[in-house]
This record gives sequence, C-alpha cells and structure tokens, in this order.
Amino acid sequence: MSAQSIRAGKVDVKQREQPDGKAAAASCVSIAQLMQPEHANPLGNVHGGTIMKLADEAGGLAAMRHAGRPTVTVFIDSMTFDKPVQVGALLHLYALVSWVGRTSVEVLVTVEAENPLTGERVETNSAFFMYVALDDNGRPTLVPYLICETEQERKRMAAGEKRQHYRLSQR
Ligand SMILES: CC(C)(COP(=O)(O)OP(=O)(O)OC[C@H]1O[C@@H](n2cnc3c(N)ncnc32)[C@H](O)[C@@H]1OP(=O)(O)O)[C@@H](O)C(=O)NCCC(=O)NCCS
Repeated sequence: MSAQSIRAGKVDVKQREQPDGKAAAASCVSIAQLMQPEHANPLGNVHGGTIMKLADEAGGLAAMRHAGRPTVTVFIDSMTFDKPVQVGALLHLYALVSWVGRTSVEVLVTVEAENPLTGERVETNSAFFMYVALDDNGRPTLVPYLICETEQERKRMAAGEKRQHYRLSQR
C-alpha cells in the first residue's frame, strides 16, 4: 500500500494502530569489514559463522533503525554460501527492510566480497533475517509500517507476507 493511499484513509486496522510509516530507504544499512587471518577456517577461507554474525549485525541495525527500538533476532532464513570468501577480501553487507508485521521486521541482507586490489566484487550470500522490536519490559512492541516507494519494494513486501506465513506455519 502506498503512502498516498494510507494518507487517503485506505488503511486497515493493523496499520492504523502502528506508529507512522517509514520507507525502506530510511533504515538501510551498509557496512564493510576487511577479512583478516583471525576470520579464517582451517582451509584458509573466511569462516561461515563470521559472515553470518556480520550479516545479523547489519540486519539488526536496519531493523533497529526502522523500529526506533531495540530488536532481537527471532528467525534466519536459510543462508547459502555460494562462493568462498578469501582472507584479504573487503566484505560488504547491505541490509534493507523488506517486510514489516506488527512487531516484527524482515530484513534482506546481501553480502559481497571485494578484491581490494582490483575492485572486483562478487555476491557471495543473501538471506532474510527476522527481528522483533522490544519495549522497555522486553516484550514485543509495535513498529512503523513499511512505506513502499517502488514497484520492486511492493513486490518484495508482498513476497515477505507469504514468507512470514510459511515461517509461522512451520513453528
Ligand atoms: C522474540 C521474542 C521476544 C518473541 O516473543 P513471543 O512471545 O514469541 O512474541 P509473539 O508471539 O508476540 O511474536 C512476536 C512477533 O514475532 C513473530 N515471530 C515469533 N516467532 C517467529 C518465528 N519463528 N518466525 C517468524 N516470526 C516469528 C510473530 O509473528 C510476531 O510478529 P508480529 O507481531 O509482527 O505479528 C521471544 O521469542 C524471544 O525473546 N526470543 C529470543 C530472542 C533472542 O534472544 N535472539 C538472539 C539474540 S538477538
């Protein structure tokens, strides 16, 4: 639903009781970290757990920016490791809010590895992370709804609704 139609009063009850909406662009996060020898697994490539931790940090920051509240990770969709990341690579992590429920925020995190000598970048991972915003008592609290500004964001939001239904059906 567009911000325009929300302002025009075409909102459902769920959206009405939530704080004002926020666009995905307002909360996206980009972080970069140089992969050092301490990040390596015994084969000499970067440990998958190192990448997941950084991805969760980037996703958590985007969720917190959107919610304006502390958030905790409640679910991580499957993450594939398409290509090895070498020590010495500059890892770029991009986090974008893709879907928002009442108290939950889904974030798409994409990971790229850059060879800093050549500037060449390859996408190595992507995954959806789910976060829940917490109030001062550590209980789930309402978050702003997501304002979709582009067709791509609207499609991502619609797909997010289906992803969340599937996750909840698997609990
Ligand atoms: C997150 C937590 C507070 C949720 O508590 P809860 O009593 O399950 O709360 P609710 O059932 O009201 O669910 C809250 C939201 O999370 C969503 N949710 C809960 N479990 C989920 C799951 N497995 N997958 C996707 N979403 C889930 C619910 O759909 C709900 O979203 P909505 O309000 O947008 O509809 C609780 O599970 C918790 O503390 N988990 C530990 C978090 C943690 O320590 N993470 C690691 C460190 S950050």
